[in-house]
Amino acid sequence: MNAGLEDVVAASTVLSDVDGKNGRLIIRGSSLDDLVANARYENVLALLFAGFFPQTPSLPAALGAARAEIFDHLITVDPAVLTLPPVDAMRALIARLDDGDDLSAALRLVAAPAVFIPALLRLKAGKSAIAPKRASSHAADTLRMMTGDIPSPEQTAALDRYLVTVADHGLNASTFAARVVASTRAGMTSSVLAALSALKGPLHGGAPGPVLDMLDAAATPDNAPNWIAAELARGERLMGFGHRVYRVRDPRADALKSAVRLLAGAGAIDPARLALAEAVERTALDQLKAKKPDRPLDTNVEFYTALLLEALGFPRQAFTGVFAMGRVGGWIAHAREQAETGRLIRPRSLYIGPQPQAAA
Ligand code: CMC
Repeated sequence: MNAGLEDVVAASTVLSDVDGKNGRLIIRGSSLDDLVANARYENVLALLFAGFFPQTPSLPAALGAARAEIFDHLITVDPAVLTLPPVDAMRALIARLDDGDDLSAALRLVAAPAVFIPALLRLKAGKSAIAPKRASSHAADTLRMMTGDIPSPEQTAALDRYLVTVADHGLNASTFAARVVASTRAGMTSSVLAALSALKGPLHGGAPGPVLDMLDAAATPDNAPNWIAAELARGERLMGFGHRVYRVRDPRADALKSAVRLLAGAGAIDPARLALAEAVERTALDQLKAKKPDRPLDTNVEFYTALLLEALGFPRQAFTGVFAMGRVGGWIAHAREQAETGRLIRPRSLYIGPQPQAAA
């Protein structure tokens, strides 16, 4: 029995390959480094969807139209939904979308986090939601819908780089959840809802908010070593470190670290915050190595995600929703790929309970 399904191969896929030994990520034949060099989320979405849907003449335009369509769903937001944390509120809104299987349904699901997260943040703050602009890029439109201001090219590039970086990542927990649901022949909305529910846990996509909590608690570079030592002594896990598959540095951490440095170069990150993060990272790596010499624990994607999303103005309770905004493309492509196999995913369990008493 293998409780965490470590190293179990449960699907074959043309979508992405996570090489944990060498720290490489390939998405449909391109390395992460090549993809992020000219990052635009719509391009990676087209790559992920190729062959699973008829390609539209212009995916960016079709996605812009889907954002406009999704915005109309906000008209009837139940006030009770606004009391929920953003990712739960978003799940409630996505649950109202149709459970279709065509490209229009897929694009509505891709558009949903990009429209719902900024709108929910504004509505919760007592402001009105800002309508999407079809002609904008997905990343730029999301930032504008959140703040009301046109984002700088550096801000748009940083969000695009983030979305591309997290678009797909092998058979992670949320993607596996999406595939399990797709294998039952439920529709794509059901797969995305299952995936979103798996994503929100702190061991998966819920980690970047706690990364910022950790920076706040460490407070200063000088204080970081003592604070981290105390956390590890209490048996706590350091958020943003360690990975089930990578035994070396997560390549996504470097993709995002360079985006964070670009934002810093444009004056969009407080230099003291960046210095604190770099000190916490250095100290954490040293102490994790000393504590677990046989288990390589390195920086994962969530550490620099936290800094990047904070610098873009997202509040930490919205981070998981922004992760979903990128990963939804991967979830949908995997759901389609799984559905095409026609095979129900149905593993076995090992019964360890009591046997019925023999009749006297
Ligand atoms: N801080 C301190 N100790 C750790 C950490 C950490 N971040 N990660 C693992 N360990 C320890 C763990 O306590 C265990 O020690 P012991 O053998 O004494 O019980 C040992 O390392 C092996 O851990 P594991 O639980 O077998 O490792 P795993 O493969 O199940 O864990 C993980 C992967 C990501 C759940 C884990 O590293 C972790 O909890 N990290 C912190 C949360 C986090 O950053 N999550 C985001 C993951 S990346 C996003 C994604 O791709 O989904």
